[in-house]
Amino acid sequence: MIISQAKFAGSSIRVSDKPALKLPEFAFIGRSNVGKSSLINMLCSQKKLAMTSSTPGKTKLINHFLINNQWYLVDLPGYGYAKISKTEREKLQAVIKDYLNHSEEMVMLFVLIDCRHDVQKIDLDFLNELGEHNIPFAIIFTKGDKLGPVALDKQIEKYGLQLSEYWEELPLSFKSSSETGLGRQEILDYIENVLTTL
Ligand code: GTP
Ligand code: MG
Repeated sequence: MIISQAKFAGSSIRVSDKPALKLPEFAFIGRSNVGKSSLINMLCSQKKLAMTSSTPGKTKLINHFLINNQWYLVDLPGYGYAKISKTEREKLQAVIKDYLNHSEEMVMLFVLIDCRHDVQKIDLDFLNELGEHNIPFAIIFTKGDKLGPVALDKQIEKYGLQLSEYWEELPLSFKSSSETGLGRQEILDYIENVLTTL
């Protein structure tokens, strides 16, 4: 997949307010600060398409980016950020839930996990909930540049072993780095393949 055009198509807090032009959507979610917005920029080879920040809780809305006039990348708010008020956190959760439950165009959800972390309860709970709702997802391990290639593979293997304590079958996963472009082609080719099956 070659991205020849990527443009911001709108922000919304409700699925009912998303862009009027309905096309297949590939959405990105994960804990706050895991690197969702950075990954979207990396995939699109643009530095400032999606807003990023070292302060967690940057993305508060559902952001649609139109790719090649053919499909959308969707940047979602992060979950699990403790340092915001309960009201604010509940608001973000409602935005995420509304999107996941009602976005008929979403064909795949990429769940981002920081490659340096072991399985955390909040991610496991989230992944289990996706399973219960039959939402198709794949995992993307982010910030791969923070570990050497051998350590990265080892950590991903360890993560898989931890997940297999709960699941019989492991989800498809990718490794990535927004700094080095690791995983870019694999993720885009995967999206291209899924699009051809629709
Ligand atoms: P929220 O919108 O707040 O939920 O965060 P997010 O998941 O969109 O994360 P964002 O892309 O804003 O990145 C958070 C921080 O991590 C920023 O300081 C980024 O520069 C940094 N970061 C993101 N991806 C990578 C990566 O692949 N490698 C490194 N080294 N840093 C990264
Ligand atoms: Mg973000």
